[in-house]
Amino acid sequence: MSELVKIGVSSDFPEGKMKRISVKGKDLLVANINGEIYSIDDVCTHEECSLADGFLQGEVVTCGCHLARFNVKTGKKVDNPATGTNIPDEQTFKIRVENDEVIVEV
Ligand code: FES
Repeated sequence: MSELVKIGVSSDFPEGKMKRISVKGKDLLVANINGEIYSIDDVCTHEECSLADGFLQGEVVTCGCHLARFNVKTGKKVDNPATGTNIPDEQTFKIRVENDEVIVEV
């Protein structure tokens, strides 16, 4: 059963930036891409580094540990880590903005 959790207001998520948010014991990566806010699991599916500690370019986040890349809009893996290990996609979370409040469905 998913739950709606307020994680801030629009200005907490400036365009082109990402941050890690803890919700119900889970770490989420939340990023504003061209004015739309998206969320995926923050824990890299390779060796569990925080993706929010990596780099965001456009809609793609690069893990700072071994350079795996994921699309933040879809959660899909863009590139495997430099180790060559085949890793799974990231889980996505729905975001909605209501009256300037940013709400995630977890
Ligand atoms: S932990 Fe993210 S690429 Fe290795």
